[in-house]
Amino acid sequence: MFAKITRILSRLRIAADLGFGARPETLDEARRLMAMDRMADPRTRHDALHEYLGVKAARAGFEIYNKNLMWQDEPAFWNVWKASPYFLKQRPDRKFVLWSMARSTRNLPGDTAECGVLDGASSYLICSAREEGGTAEHHAFDSFEGLSAPRPEDRPGNPVAFEWAPGDLSVPLEEAMRKLSRFDAIRYYKGWIPSRFEEVSARRFSFVHVDVDLYQPTKDSLAFFYPRLVPGGILLCDDYGYHTCPGARKAFDEFAATTPEQSVVHLPTGQGFIVKRARPAAEG
Ligand SMILES: C[S@@+](CC[C@H](N)C(=O)[O-])C[C@H]1O[C@@H](n2cnc3c(N)ncnc32)[C@H](O)[C@@H]1O
Repeated sequence: MFAKITRILSRLRIAADLGFGARPETLDEARRLMAMDRMADPRTRHDALHEYLGVKAARAGFEIYNKNLMWQDEPAFWNVWKASPYFLKQRPDRKFVLWSMARSTRNLPGDTAECGVLDGASSYLICSAREEGGTAEHHAFDSFEGLSAPRPEDRPGNPVAFEWAPGDLSVPLEEAMRKLSRFDAIRYYKGWIPSRFEEVSARRFSFVHVDVDLYQPTKDSLAFFYPRLVPGGILLCDDYGYHTCPGARKAFDEFAATTPEQSVVHLPTGQGFIVKRARPAAEG
């Protein structure tokens, strides 16, 4: 009996040491991992491990990415992201979507803007994506004192989601400026949204990122920037699909219902966006 237990434990230990980063919980799992380790063909091994981890994640109610996705080694993105001060501090998937969308607008006229800057990660990617675009400016709006007071619309209905409090996510302006110092064409607007929007009321925008987590500042940002968006321009909301940010979604849906586009594209990363379509001349 003792010998049998020792044998099982040592098998589990071998499997745990295989370097897959997957810890077996049963003898059967240990056998599967050891069988994978013996697979000579790297593709078969990669596929088997992906399937194994996918089933384990799904059982716990999570989802892992599809395999063989090109964005995971897209050099134009990773060269920028790895050189940034944010690498390994934030998940790259939403950042890739943001970068890719900002880049797709680089040949449009108009500036870029971000509402909700924190320490600058998204602004960094927007500016990098638009560097080839020439003379456009980037306008960065934030209280730099954290979130304003949440309203009833911001209270999560989902029991696993936390609630925001005033002052959460407070980062000083100087920290954002230091991390974004390699970009010349950024203007900072410290203050509560929408108090400083008027300063850019004569500008036009091709890409606007709204990332303020709450109902009221999301609503104010959309109301101000949508009319100033050029045709083909994109309004991207980082918080649209988050259980923690129901107010952001409500604001975006309410606003979208008043536009010709009528609805928001919802991405599995939690982001949501509108592309402003061209209007017939009479509509303006
Ligand atoms: C999630 S963080 C932004 C993250 C940033 N976009 C990034 O990806 O690194 C939300 C930001 O919104 C700002 N914020 C929230 N409510 C605001 C308001 N009413 N006025 C101005 N800024 C606000 C906070 O100060 C915070 O920096």
